[in-house]
Amino acid sequence: MEERVMEEHVMEEHGVRRFPFGPTTGLELDGTYRELQESERVARIRMPFGGDAWLVTGYEDTKFVLSDPRFSRAVTLAMDLPRLQPQIVQNPEMIMSMDPPDHTRVRQVAARAFTPRRVEKLRPWIAGQIDDLLVRMAEQGPPADLMKDLATPLPIAVICEILGVPFADRHRFREWSEIVMSVTAFTPEEIFAAFQSLSEYLGWLVRQRRVAPADDLFSAMVRARDTEAVMSERELVTFGVTLLVVGHETTVNEIADMMFVMLRDGVYAELAEGGGPALPRVVEELLRFVPIESPGGFARVATEDVVIGDTLIAKGEAVYTQLSAANRDPRVFSDPDAIDFETAREQHLTFGFGPHRCMGAALAKMEIELVIEGLLRRMPGLRLAVDPGRIEWKVDRLVRGPEALPVTW
Ligand code: HEM
Repeated sequence: MEERVMEEHVMEEHGVRRFPFGPTTGLELDGTYRELQESERVARIRMPFGGDAWLVTGYEDTKFVLSDPRFSRAVTLAMDLPRLQPQIVQNPEMIMSMDPPDHTRVRQVAARAFTPRRVEKLRPWIAGQIDDLLVRMAEQGPPADLMKDLATPLPIAVICEILGVPFADRHRFREWSEIVMSVTAFTPEEIFAAFQSLSEYLGWLVRQRRVAPADDLFSAMVRARDTEAVMSERELVTFGVTLLVVGHETTVNEIADMMFVMLRDGVYAELAEGGGPALPRVVEELLRFVPIESPGGFARVATEDVVIGDTLIAKGEAVYTQLSAANRDPRVFSDPDAIDFETAREQHLTFGFGPHRCMGAALAKMEIELVIEGLLRRMPGLRLAVDPGRIEWKVDRLVRGPEALPVTW
């Protein structure tokens, strides 16, 4: 009873805000997030579907929600979750929808295959892929579409390499993962069908790996599963699908968004002239600055009453975080809306935090660095071919990115 009174008090005092706050396209972060960071630590938001939820925007609160075991991902599957889209296609066997002990078990097997050494071994292969794509781009242009010619084909090629997908099947992979990642561009039936196709294909791949193990990351997972038997066959197949879902579209758009910002703001030209900070510093700061996450990422649900500041999150209520907003928290990053290569800003939350932190962070950073390196080497005069204001942005996706990124050199 007391809890209910407290909840009503908070709602009455602050009101409920409709979510999302502003346009979800482009790379602008809505001003409401800063307002909330300054005045309303935990905000009540009304989602388009499923009712009201809580939103935290501060850096420390975001870390708290992402790492406190009283906030569950698995519970979100079993309820009418307040959400952005009419239906969320979720799967209890996907690692990001699991809680401990299942999550810990699956993550351990995956981590055994996803080692820094194995990731690092991919470096020359990835550099070679980028070179091939740039040679083709140079032959056909200028101009070129950096999205279509470089950002899109690279991450899928890398994931296929990790999984050991034969080259001939790779275009089908792209189509399926594009559908699975969409929010409203496809019907739930189409999304489900794409999921099914991916799963069937991955099941076949696992059987192949068992008969003829290769030196890829997925073979290492199959081996770890078969010797330790702590993961079901379905979980293994689902993990393969998960890599496509979480590792492809994110990296594609991060590459495109970062290149857009670098070309728009003169960072690229500075690097091409041999000035500017070291590349890893550039990548980290742009990872912080670029708001890749569309509003409404992965929600958590309180499994018991939790108090944040003076707000009670009651058991069963959903909490959203907004990583891009946390990355601009003025209490942690000075002058947060400006790009600053002088200070170390690696503590950004673009790859999440806590038990579900991105397993592909090192791989994604390597891909991004190699892309910038390759472009600087082959096309130092690269620039946007259109006015930055004329770039069209995708709508209704889980991550933000341009439809096309026309460049010339
Ligand atoms: C720039 C590109 C990327 C970004 C911004 C990104 C971001 C994220 C974030 C924020 C999470 C945590 C979600 C949550 O806590 O709810 C996550 C999880 C994950 N990411 Fe990434 N990711 C990227 C690339 C990749 C790549 C390339 C891979 C692998 C090929 C990958 C594999 C994963 C996996 C397996 C998880 C789930 C981890 C778990 O639930 O324990 N990601 N990613």
